[in-house]
Amino acid sequence: MTTNPKFNAKPAFLDGSVKKMLIDGRWVEAKAGRSFETFNPATGELLARVAEGDAEDVDLAVAAARRAFEGPWRSFKPNQRQNLILKLADLVSQHYEELCVLDTLDMGMPIGRSIQNRERVVGSVRYYAAQAMNIHGETIESSLDGEFFTAALKEPIGVVGAIIPWNSPLFATVKKISVALAAGCTLVLKPAEEAPLTPLRVGELCLEAGIPPGVVNIVSGFGETAGARLSAHPDVDKIAFTGSHFTGQKIIRASAVNVKKLSMELGGKSPNIIFADANLDKAVPGAAMATFNNAGQICCAGTRMYVERAIYDEFVARVAEFGSKMRVGNGLDLQTQMGPLVSTEQLTRVTDYLKIGQQEGAEAVTGGQRLTEGAFGKGNFVPPTVFRNVSDNMRIAREEIFGPVISAIPFDTVDEVVQRANDTPFGLGGGVWTRDVGKAHKVARRIRSGTVWVNAYNVMDPSVPFGGYKMSGFGREGGVHHVDEYLQTKALILNTD
Ligand code: NAI
Ligand code: MG
Repeated sequence: MTTNPKFNAKPAFLDGSVKKMLIDGRWVEAKAGRSFETFNPATGELLARVAEGDAEDVDLAVAAARRAFEGPWRSFKPNQRQNLILKLADLVSQHYEELCVLDTLDMGMPIGRSIQNRERVVGSVRYYAAQAMNIHGETIESSLDGEFFTAALKEPIGVVGAIIPWNSPLFATVKKISVALAAGCTLVLKPAEEAPLTPLRVGELCLEAGIPPGVVNIVSGFGETAGARLSAHPDVDKIAFTGSHFTGQKIIRASAVNVKKLSMELGGKSPNIIFADANLDKAVPGAAMATFNNAGQICCAGTRMYVERAIYDEFVARVAEFGSKMRVGNGLDLQTQMGPLVSTEQLTRVTDYLKIGQQEGAEAVTGGQRLTEGAFGKGNFVPPTVFRNVSDNMRIAREEIFGPVISAIPFDTVDEVVQRANDTPFGLGGGVWTRDVGKAHKVARRIRSGTVWVNAYNVMDPSVPFGGYKMSGFGREGGVHHVDEYLQTKALILNTD
């Protein structure tokens, strides 16, 4: 195993104690005294026990967030909020290696990759710090009789419930926290039960940064209990959710109780379209990593790979070869390019899809079965898999698998591939690979999804909006629009006579 001495495989945070939740600036156990276990998906080892917050704990956290929102936090000026977020960015940067190790231990992400994302993660926090000082409404020239000053003011929405998934714990946590702080909101964050460690460690950094008690609360616990209570809580003003569309639908229903504001960053089945005139030397690794990145556990993964018929055989073979050469293993090894799936449940889900694909008549050119030899047998390892002979109506071409599985589908014409690419209830990402700028532009414009990459995939920038069309959700993360999701507009009509 190639390691780096900076990556202490046993961070001090994992000291054998039950990890507590952050409520009102204090580390507390669950009221009911329960805890749950979190495991290393590469080895099956128990990493820690974690406080299992439920409805009662969520209620305490929401009350603390409300008190903070109505209390001292209100009077924090934009520059003060900016300074706190910048301080958090510094701390995340300072502890970046440790946070990456926690992500790897808890959910398997290869550290060789995550370590390269420092700028994306820390830069994103700094971006929101800047946004804290970029909140402005507008004045309006009204036609009212008499003397009036009319304006649209921007005010923070209030108490935010942030519910995050396990596929990128550090990034999801710091993004949800820093955008809420930029807008002047307070929040209760519920990490995914599969990967609660990094979010809790970030909670420690929030306190170290001097973020006042109650402004950031972190309640670890299960979706069906803690998550459900947060989304049905009458005193939570907004839910910011990232995760599956099934859970998104439940949250939308639960939010009706007090007509919460919502933002939904849900999954997808994104098309990645490879034209015969593409630079194939770039398109092969690009199309492979569009899905194999993070073992396919990425919401915008380009899993429906549409390949122009003239190059279908060659291209599919090359992507399969790329996949078969990827180093699969423990994410702590710097050489590892693909780690395990997050949990045994996810392993079952993905291997079920591998069977379904084969039963439906698709052919696995590479991969297709769980890895069980030697050390692999202790973890949740599925190799890069490429299916050919896939048709649009197969389940592996329609449903989000959330594993390293590409469905390769041939096409003949531009109009046809656009129509087929859009024939999905989802619309999160999409890719177009071609040397023809005009074609790239036309196809990109016609794909109905929140992001389209041309001759690239999975490339993100804090100032570029990200989010879904159709069942992939609504609301945008990143960009100036993101902070706006945490603000509401107040009309001020002031008679100055
Ligand atoms: P999930 O969507 O159920 O979990 C995401 C978060 O929602 C977790 O924090 C969970 O505790 C919470 N949650 C679950 N049920 C809830 C409820 N009733 N009310 C409020 N919060 C609730 O996803 P899960 O179960 O981890 O994965 C299942 C499948 O979902 C995956 O195989 C994948 O297809 C998809 N998924 C997609 C993600 C994406 O970003 N597109 C992220 C995670 C999962
Ligand atoms: Mg875990």
